Amino acid sequence: MSNIKPLDIALIGCGKMGSAMLKGWLDSKIIGRAFIIDPAGLPETFAEYAPNPVTAYKSVTAFADADIHADIFVMATKPQIMAEVCKQLAPVLPRTALIMSIAAGQTITNFEKAFGETQPIIRAMPNTPSAIGQGISVAVANPHATEDHKQQTTKLLEAIGMVEWMDDEDLLNAVTALSGSGPAYVFLLIETMAKAGVHCGLSEELATRLARQTVIGSANLAKAEPQAEASTLRQNVTSPGGTTEAALKVLMADDGIQKLFDKALTAAKDRGIELSS
Ligand SMILES: NC(=O)c1ccc[n+]([C@@H]2O[C@H](COP(=O)([O-])OP(=O)(O)OC[C@H]3O[C@@H](n4cnc5c(N)ncnc54)[C@H](OP(=O)(O)O)[C@@H]3O)[C@@H](O)[C@H]2O)c1
Repeated sequence: MSNIKPLDIALIGCGKMGSAMLKGWLDSKIIGRAFIIDPAGLPETFAEYAPNPVTAYKSVTAFADADIHADIFVMATKPQIMAEVCKQLAPVLPRTALIMSIAAGQTITNFEKAFGETQPIIRAMPNTPSAIGQGISVAVANPHATEDHKQQTTKLLEAIGMVEWMDDEDLLNAVTALSGSGPAYVFLLIETMAKAGVHCGLSEELATRLARQTVIGSANLAKAEPQAEASTLRQNVTSPGGTTEAALKVLMADDGIQKLFDKALTAAKDRGIELSS
């Protein structure tokens, strides 16, 4: 049994990613209170948890007026409005509270400018499978985040999946491009495979079912065999001169999927850099 007091969290922005994380924290019962700050108020998903342990406020001002203590302020609004949100929060944020931001491209320096250089700040990049405890997050801390802060963050992020720590903040844009945005690429793969099945003569309904379950089954196979390289799992499906090999010759050609993914991830990474300026 842990003797650490459950953390009280202020969640600023409870959209897709904020609610995915909050759901994971509530399901695993690792937080004390959760204070949502979002113009839309309390999302329907959390109605059963209100008003305790979850309370919603429609603005930073309403939260400040309630004079509430939170241990960690989780910043989960869109990057484009983060500067404005920080401006609202700065006057009411205790200087010792940990800021944990999940916003793409928003640098630690941006937050230090808003809250002061000594504010403990951790930048993390989760992804949406966090909603079912299957996410993966990468985190970077500024020098004012203590070991306790890092442990608290690890605990929060472990409740929604796996966690990696990095020292080089610049690499977070690459992480965002790979695992942050990555679930969208996998869902696109389902859509693309299904469309290709239709082009080969299958009905849309069957092609969609086949594509979806193929991705689910393959992901679970990779999970069940953690020691096996993805290339080995691929080769297990590929007999010489067979049908899979014929398809892979197309996908793995010089102008095939690798080139496309290199281009796509570079575009995502560059967008992260743009969002930080
Ligand atoms: N989605 C992902 O897969 C993913 C993965 C990793 C990281 N992230 C990061 O997570 C952050 C949120 O992304 P998201 O996809 O969850 O976006 P989202 O669904 O649009 O959620 C943002 C939420 O913030 C609310 N909001 C707007 N103005 C606010 C304010 N002044 N104060 C408090 N809340 C406010 C929005 O309300 P309205 O809708 O009414 O504007 C919305 O509910 C982004 O910075 C993104 O980079 C997302």
